[in-house]
Amino acid sequence: MFDIQKVRADFPILSQKVNGKPLVYFDNGATSQKPQIVIDAIVDYYSKYNANIHRGVHTLSQLATDAYEEARLKIQKHFNAKQNYEIILTSGTTESINLVANGFASILQKNDEIIVSALEHHSNIVPWQMLCEQTGAILKVIPMDIHGELIMSEYDKLLSDKTKLVFCNHISNALGTLNPIGYIIKKAHEVGAAVLIDGAQACPHLKPDVQALDVDFYVTSAHKMCGPTGVGMLYGKEEWLRKLPPYKGGGEMIATVTFEKTTYADLPHKFEAGTPNICGGIAFGAAVDYMNAIGFDGIAKQEKELLEYGTKRLQEIDNLTIYGPEDLNRKASVISFNVDGIHPYDIGTIIDKLGIAVRTGHHCAQPIMDFFKIPGTIRASFAFYNTKEEIDIFVEAVKKAITMLS
Ligand code: ALA
Repeated sequence: MFDIQKVRADFPILSQKVNGKPLVYFDNGATSQKPQIVIDAIVDYYSKYNANIHRGVHTLSQLATDAYEEARLKIQKHFNAKQNYEIILTSGTTESINLVANGFASILQKNDEIIVSALEHHSNIVPWQMLCEQTGAILKVIPMDIHGELIMSEYDKLLSDKTKLVFCNHISNALGTLNPIGYIIKKAHEVGAAVLIDGAQACPHLKPDVQALDVDFYVTSAHKMCGPTGVGMLYGKEEWLRKLPPYKGGGEMIATVTFEKTTYADLPHKFEAGTPNICGGIAFGAAVDYMNAIGFDGIAKQEKELLEYGTKRLQEIDNLTIYGPEDLNRKASVISFNVDGIHPYDIGTIIDKLGIAVRTGHHCAQPIMDFFKIPGTIRASFAFYNTKEEIDIFVEAVKKAITMLS
């Protein structure tokens, strides 16, 4: 049973006051809050068994290595990867994407084609542009419609035997659109292209199964799903991870080194040069455990109620436009909106004084804002620990800000 008050009690920060008001945290798309159990995992590591991993013969090093590798197993199980070494621990989604882009630099040929979606975050646009500059490959874009949904008939037309890679987010950070990634993956495979899915905004809301999706690469960050910042994951199918060259050189990723020739370590270490974020990896495992203990069915139900209620309440306000899918079943618990004649930043600043945290601006997705011809939006992104009462406080605050700014 999903008991919201019990869930909220897991997050110490939710009882804070901000600017003298109870915190209403609706900036979960930027980063989620952390439950005590994850904070404890961090404190435990540094206070009881801090040591470097995979190196020492001493007891603390072994304890740290075991905890880190156990976290990798938890993550493997969570995403249903076939092998634990298909999970590469990185600093986050951006590094995971760059690792794959870097690897494809030695595979792509001039005039090969890469397809990205119009709904991408800058982190899933810029690395591919850099890759195209390096290789002479060509970037194509799946367009979207006015509801912020990708147009699949246009995607079909872009695919050809020149297509080598397709990149798309699972859920859009700016609009909350849930993309048809099953279709995207299937069609890309029909022309022999590999697919990378950016799951940074999806993993807080749902539990992806990488084998069922048959996806080649799936990436995410721990901090969006109750874990710490500075750690994330690249899932890659074994055959692809064996094919891609290492991303960074250094300790840990080698088998043998002489000045004449170096041979690389096996997976996953080939991609994990240097001392990793040991504590972060362990806490990522704790976060995955926590979210599974809450249960993704309960999370989905709570967030759907918040999305429906928040949408209905905001629609009471005149001259307010919500961007993104009209069908709320094709959307995560994210409401991106504007009020005619008022800059999003001004509303964000006023409601912050009332204790409410939202993100305003282009959300690192400028092409989406250009499509709608707007400078940015106000984005309220809900997590399973948010409540309808908080939405009421938020809606009243937005109304107050509008009155002050009109
Ligand atoms: N990508 C994060 C967001 O959407 C930071 O806010």
